[in-house]
Amino acid sequence: MNITICVAQTKAAPWEEGFRALLPDARVSTWKAGDPQADYAIVWSPPQEFLDEQAGLKAMFNIGAGVDAIMKLRLPPQTQVVRLDDAGMSVQMAEYVCHAVIRHFREFDGYEADIAAGQWSYRKPRSRADFSVGVMGMGVLGERVARALRVFEFPVHGWSRTPKAVEGVVCHAGTDRFDTFLSSCRVLVNLLPLTPDTQDILNRKTLSRLQPGGYVINVARGAHLVEDDLIHLLDSGHLSGATLDVFRTEPLPADHPFWQHPKVTVTPHTSARTLRDESIAQIAGKIVALSRGEPIAGVVHRDRGY
Ligand code: NAP
Ligand code: GLV
Repeated sequence: MNITICVAQTKAAPWEEGFRALLPDARVSTWKAGDPQADYAIVWSPPQEFLDEQAGLKAMFNIGAGVDAIMKLRLPPQTQVVRLDDAGMSVQMAEYVCHAVIRHFREFDGYEADIAAGQWSYRKPRSRADFSVGVMGMGVLGERVARALRVFEFPVHGWSRTPKAVEGVVCHAGTDRFDTFLSSCRVLVNLLPLTPDTQDILNRKTLSRLQPGGYVINVARGAHLVEDDLIHLLDSGHLSGATLDVFRTEPLPADHPFWQHPKVTVTPHTSARTLRDESIAQIAGKIVALSRGEPIAGVVHRDRGY
C-alpha cells in the first residue's frame, strides 16, 4: 500500500515517521510532482496539481476537522474525503470556549484593568440566567462545547441542520428556527463548517438578533463572519465584545482593526489544534479498516460540503 503526504504549513517528516511506525508494511513518502499513484493521502490544503496527479486515490485524510479548503478543489470522483474526527480537538475547543465565556461573564478583563491601575474594586455579580449561550453547529465540537457550558450552569441553546437531543440543551434545527435561536442568545459561539450555506452567516442582520449586550465567539472559520458588520455592531453598542480565533485572512494583517479594537480579543487560530500522535493513530486505524473493506466514520458528504 502507498501512502503519500501533502501537508501545507506543516512539517511532513514527523507524519511520515508516525505512519511508518504504525503501518510498517506501507510505503510512506512526502508527495512531489510526478510521484507514482498512491492509495491513500494525508493532506492539509493540498494544491490542485496534487489532486490532478493523484486521481486514483481511494481516500484522502484531512489532518483537520474543517474540509472547506479541500471542497473548493476539483476532486477525483471516487476518492473519499475523510475529516479528522475529534482526535483530541473537542476537549481543547471546550476549554477555549468556556474560558472565553467565563472571562466575559465574570468581567475578568475589567478586573485585570482595575488591578493594573492599583484599584481594589468590585463589580456587581451578573445573573447566569441572563447569559444564554448559543452554539451554532452541534457536531463533534459543538456538542462537546454545549455539554461543557452546561457544567457551569449557563442556559445553553444549540442550532444544527438536523434535530438533536442533548440533555440540558435547548436544541433548534433548520433555517426556520434560526431567528428564534439567535434571539434566545446573549453569547453566540460559531462552530459551523464553512460551506456555501454558512459563508457570511454572522452578519449585521443575524448578529442584530442577539440579545442587547451580545457577545460573539468565532472559532470556526473567518469567512463565516462579515468583519465590518461586527465592528459596526460593537461600535454602536449593540454587541459588547467578541473573541475571535479565525479570520478571513490569516495571519491577521498587521493593520487590521481587530488587533487594536478594545472590545475584541484575538487569538491566532489555536482554539483546537491538530494533535499529531492522536491524529496519526486515528487515520492509521481508518486506513486499516478501509483496506479490509470496513466502513469508517468521518467521511465527508460531498453534496453537503462537510
Ligand atoms: P461537524 O461534526 O461536521 O459538525 C458540524 C455541525 O454544523 C453539525 O451539527 C451540522 O448539522 C451543523 N451544520 C452544518 N451546516 C449547517 C447549516 N447550514 N445550518 C445549520 N447547521 C449546520 O464539525 P466539527 O468537527 O464540529 O467542526 C466544526 C468546524 O469547526 C470545522 O468545520 C472547522 O471549520 C472548525 N474548526 C476550527 C478549529 C480551530 O482551531 N479554530 C479547529 C477545528 C475545527 P447536522 O449535525 O445536522 O449535520
Ligand atoms: C482547524 O481549523 C481544523 O479545521 O481542524
